[in-house]
Amino acid sequence: GGGCGACTVMVSRYDPHTKNHPVSFTHHFSVNACLMPVCQLDGAAVTTVEGIGNTKTRLHPVQERIAKANGSQCGFCTPGMVMSMYTLLRNKPKPSMEDIKETLAGNLCRCTGYRPIIDGYRTFCESENCCQRNGNSCCMTNGSGPLESAENPELSGKEEFMPLDPTQELIFPPELIRMAESAKPTTQRFRGERMTWISPVSLNELLQLKAQHPQAPIVMGNTNIGPDIKFKGVVHPIIISASRVRELFEVEHKPEGVCVGAGSSLSAVRSVLEKSVSSLPEEHTQTMAALLDQLGRVGGEQIRNVATLGGNIASAYPNSDLNPVLAAGRCSVLLLSKDGKREVLLNKEFFVGFGKTILKPEEILLSVFIPVSRKGEVVRAFRHAPRKENALATVNAGMRVWFEEGSNVVKEMSVYYGGVGPCTVSAEKTAQQVVGRSWNEETLCDAYKELVDDVTLGASLTLSLLFKFYLHVLQHLKDTVHPPLEGQIPPEQLSAVEPLPNIIQPSYREFQDVLEGQSEQDPVGRALWHRSALSHATGEAVYCDDFPHTDGELFLSMVTSTRAHAKITHIDVSGALSMPGVVDVFTADDIPGQKFRSFAGIKEELMAGEEKSIFGGRTLVFNYNILIFTCAQVTCVGQMICGVVADTKQHAKLAARALRISYEDLPDPIFTVEEAVQKHSFFLPQRKLEKGDVSRAFQEADQVHEGEIRLGGQEHFYMETQSMLVIPVGEEKEMKVFVSTQHPTMAQEAVAETLGIPSNRVSSHVKRVGGAFGGKVTKTSILVSLTALAAWRTGRPVRCVLERGEDMLITGARHPVLGKYKVGFMKDGRITAADVQYYANAGNTADESVLVAEKILLHMDNSYNIPNLRGQSSACKTNLPSNTAFRGFGVPQSMLVMENIINDVALILNRPAEEIREKNLYKEPSLTHYKMEFDPENLLRCWMECKEKSELEGRQLSIAQFNQQNRWKKRGISMIPIKYGIGFAEGFLNQAAALVHIYKDGSVLVSHGGTEMGQGIHTKLQQVASRELNVPLSLIHITETATSSVPNTCPSAASFGTDANGMAVKDACETLYKRLEPIRKQDPNGTWKSWISKAFFDKISLSATGYYRGQDLYMDWEKQEGLPYAYFTYAACCSEVELDCLTGEYRTIRTDLVADIGRSINPSIDIGQIEGAFMQGLGLYTMEELKFSPSGVLYTRGPGQYKIPAVCDVPLQFNVYLLSGSHNPHAIYSSKGIGEPTLFLGSSVFFALKEAVAAARSDSGLSGPFPLHSPATPERACSACSTRFTQMIPEAETGSARSWALELP
Ligand SMILES: Cc1cc2nc3c(=O)[nH]c(=O)nc-3n(C[C@H](O)[C@H](O)[C@H](O)COP(=O)(O)OP(=O)(O)OC[C@H]3O[C@@H](n4cnc5c(N)ncnc54)[C@H](O)[C@@H]3O)c2cc1C
Ligand code: FES
Repeated sequence: GGGCGACTVMVSRYDPHTKNHPVSFTHHFSVNACLMPVCQLDGAAVTTVEGIGNTKTRLHPVQERIAKANGSQCGFCTPGMVMSMYTLLRNKPKPSMEDIKETLAGNLCRCTGYRPIIDGYRTFCESENCCQRNGNSCCMTNGSGPLESAENPELSGKEEFMPLDPTQELIFPPELIRMAESAKPTTQRFRGERMTWISPVSLNELLQLKAQHPQAPIVMGNTNIGPDIKFKGVVHPIIISASRVRELFEVEHKPEGVCVGAGSSLSAVRSVLEKSVSSLPEEHTQTMAALLDQLGRVGGEQIRNVATLGGNIASAYPNSDLNPVLAAGRCSVLLLSKDGKREVLLNKEFFVGFGKTILKPEEILLSVFIPVSRKGEVVRAFRHAPRKENALATVNAGMRVWFEEGSNVVKEMSVYYGGVGPCTVSAEKTAQQVVGRSWNEETLCDAYKELVDDVTLGASLTLSLLFKFYLHVLQHLKDTVHPPLEGQIPPEQLSAVEPLPNIIQPSYREFQDVLEGQSEQDPVGRALWHRSALSHATGEAVYCDDFPHTDGELFLSMVTSTRAHAKITHIDVSGALSMPGVVDVFTADDIPGQKFRSFAGIKEELMAGEEKSIFGGRTLVFNYNILIFTCAQVTCVGQMICGVVADTKQHAKLAARALRISYEDLPDPIFTVEEAVQKHSFFLPQRKLEKGDVSRAFQEADQVHEGEIRLGGQEHFYMETQSMLVIPVGEEKEMKVFVSTQHPTMAQEAVAETLGIPSNRVSSHVKRVGGAFGGKVTKTSILVSLTALAAWRTGRPVRCVLERGEDMLITGARHPVLGKYKVGFMKDGRITAADVQYYANAGNTADESVLVAEKILLHMDNSYNIPNLRGQSSACKTNLPSNTAFRGFGVPQSMLVMENIINDVALILNRPAEEIREKNLYKEPSLTHYKMEFDPENLLRCWMECKEKSELEGRQLSIAQFNQQNRWKKRGISMIPIKYGIGFAEGFLNQAAALVHIYKDGSVLVSHGGTEMGQGIHTKLQQVASRELNVPLSLIHITETATSSVPNTCPSAASFGTDANGMAVKDACETLYKRLEPIRKQDPNGTWKSWISKAFFDKISLSATGYYRGQDLYMDWEKQEGLPYAYFTYAACCSEVELDCLTGEYRTIRTDLVADIGRSINPSIDIGQIEGAFMQGLGLYTMEELKFSPSGVLYTRGPGQYKIPAVCDVPLQFNVYLLSGSHNPHAIYSSKGIGEPTLFLGSSVFFALKEAVAAARSDSGLSGPFPLHSPATPERACSACSTRFTQMIPEAETGSARSWALELP
């Protein structure tokens, strides 16, 4: 809850008594609706995205600008983005870029990569035309003028944007003002089925209530209690809300410090402290300033607006950002109960364990006292998190030192860490080591030694943070100790305390021009917005779960296995059946039809078996059935066992929790690929490709090197979780299925097979999908079968919408891969031989894993002509949830291994990796290692253009200089090429169909087999129809994808949706246009409408189907040759990063990407795909980490634990160039597929980081290849730097500790 911001709304309150409160009268703030209890909203006005504008009357500028800037793709996150920005503008109509970044930090988007959102909202900035390179100070207002004009063709018409007019905003409802001013508040009680909510208004009453119900929690921001209730099933029979008790919000400024009411939100505390810091002398505000540092980084704005100071302290999270600083800064709290009060220090005695403090059950926390710092005191706060913003800290710290007056001798020191134990931890012995001694290197060296014993968890980070504090204090002493101290901090050391760059620069996008002479009306090749952009931005876009509830509708909840490998001995459903609202519980035994699913010719038994089958004209040597529900044995945690159907979602979930399953564990579960290899646990066949004579080439090579790289999995994290609604029509066994899927036909077939009815009784409908990325094909078909089963058994409509945690647990992810390699190369950098073994962790069922393993091999060469190349790949069968397709389908794993090989060769030869890459690129028309012919001309053009546009060589020199001058910050730059095959190697999947109707009024309705999931297929196909029929876009409507309109669709996947469906739409339109030809000739001056009318009266059919057969692509694995792709998409990308070697945090400073996508049908949409895929790749390779417990339980089940890129991760400058003059005879209008290819280019950031790490290692005297596995999280990058601090950590003795997480793959 609260981690993604998609449900952001604005809450406004009117407070007539805000005397000492930091904000007065009407106060607007953004909140996450999912965490805001309705009972808490008494007297408040709530504004949703629908409330600020719509497409029927008037749009709000915030809605218009995100839409026109191409800031929405699937649109699921867009209402949240709009409302965050809207709230900012209500409070600050002329924000700075910094305000915008901060506001959007709590809103995640999985599609766009954020750049267009930032650009769209940048237009609201005070300094609208400012390049922002001077940070917050605008070059337009300070007279210097913009440094360089940035071109943004999408926003070129920005003068046409509706202006923001604050006087036009909704007013606060007068009746709520009257209510606030006149009402005499009284205690409120709300009673629910299981819970009573009591909201007193006086402190006295609050204390009485707490005495009566000591176990009842006090709810304030609900950011801790809420998620516990929602996701952990915690039940509180009574909840006391203290949000109307005024005393909890009082603020008092005293000479000794400031006393802040415990109920103050973190945003309010921030305002109070900002005021104090700006009005008091610096020496008094050390603690306050340190707290401000942390406050700006706690959660996102929506969290800070409701989470309270008292709640943060009382929650006693081990990684609370505030507690270490409050404790180090000598802050205290006032505790109150019916029997009296006590003031206690927030120190190690206060925090007694995980989530526990010394607060007695009947006590409340009234206020927090933050003292002014004393002369000679220095306080600092530090924070290290898996993502720069909106992420709980891994390790944080508050540190204070107090010096004897005018000297550097320490009188007092206090060091507190968070994230290194069950609660906030005091490093007391370390602090004692320093007291009485001078602040110098020698003292600190002794302190480091003590710290290693004092705090064992997160040890290298705790040391690094102490070192940073040491330098900060030295800097401080330089200005405060007189006479100045001897010795200066060496300049290269200063980099430890300098922040990473963070100013977002304008980015550049180079579009292609449309062909000369193209008619104005012809929209092909033009940068048009996504056709649903305005619906996304106004909240009008309908997703599966937005369909209104139908009469008698039920909800389905799944019961899943808690064991990885066990026999089910008993299922007791009685508890579940007796719960209120429960209608049905079913298991595998209740399936009337087929109990398994088979996909794309892959059939899988629960136990793998080998068998031959003929499918799609080719012989497959594998045949797997996937059981949709298990009843005898479970093979992973998260495997579905039962379905529970109830009248509401809550009832279904509660009943699912009441169901009891007994297991008998089976021995030897397999989790890692190493274990799978040892036990020969594979999904067959294993594949092999070989060209040349690899063994001989190794003998003849100048050098041979062996290595390996591991790549973790990746959660799809589509913003809209798996959602479906199945409605029995009521007669002749018909079922209507509304489902969020990439493959409506598979959903249709799955339902029909499961129920044992023909496909013609099932129609599957997809309006739009809120993100899919490969995760809504096979897994959705299983879920929809079960939802249909529930509807079948009950005869009622059934909805199933997974919670994020369930979705992550059940539906699998990208395959983690281990690549083991041997490479032979010459002194000049030519790679003459490579032999690679790939092991993909498939999980417990085959799904599409063998196909993924095949695609890994087909792309193992990436863009390099390696004359002797051998690859073998295996899909390992393990007891983890079954992995599935994910954008790139094995290619991002495969290419990473090849690039790592090149990187190793470069490190061994001590040459820049780009030189080795360039040397080995395909240079002339060639054959791939599976004998497919291609011409790499455009690959080379992308490479050379990227090199030039990124100014690679010049920047390599300045980076070398930077690295020489800075010990603790290092920069790295890396340029990566791609050659990506488009289409399905299974030729039959490349077909598509369409249906086009022209109505008598001339309007056109287009249906096709592709699904709209943000990639803009409907927009592009509208453009196609417009060109082919020669009518304006406004006459064309693309309707939902439905199997009843267009049957036997293929999945929208493999970057092939537009290629295939575009041709089908074109075919249908051509047919219709031809039919109209005689009429047009008869009446050349007629209008479209008159021709259509005439056609109708002449009895000419105005409806046509279109069909595209696709190329007969194939791959013959026995002969090791084939034509598995229609063509290749090429690109090259150069990224530069700056790395903090002490913490592993980094920033992407600049990315330049050149892509050959033929002649783009819609450059805005294609650039959106390029940027979004790049950012997803950046997430894959540098931050997104799935963690499993040693018994196979997925730990990372939500945005709190699993971090996808946020606004803060966008390259500070992100330039995208479309290669000009490129043509592609193999796809519609010479375009190319682009959905997947550029994901791999996110690895340019990984390899740039590797360069930076190599520079840090070189300072530690290390050279040559080193392991850095993906994702290169801050922890991994920091440890790879091998600084003196990481080296101080003693190695754990083998067997002395058990790892808390599996080392995957
Ligand atoms: C998405 C998300 C991101 C977050 N990121 C961060 C982060 O980066 N850094 C960080 O430090 N924290 C983070 N948090 C935690 C957040 O700061 C705390 O949950 C919050 O401060 C708790 O305050 P609350 O008012 O919401 O507490 P509630 O959930 O309302 O209550 C929490 C607990 O505190 C008790 N309590 C509250 N007020 C009082 C009182 N006056 N007297 C006695 N007991 C009281 C309640 O009884 C309850 O047990 C995050 C939380 C979320 C959901
Ligand atoms: S557009 Fe942001 S999640 Fe899809």
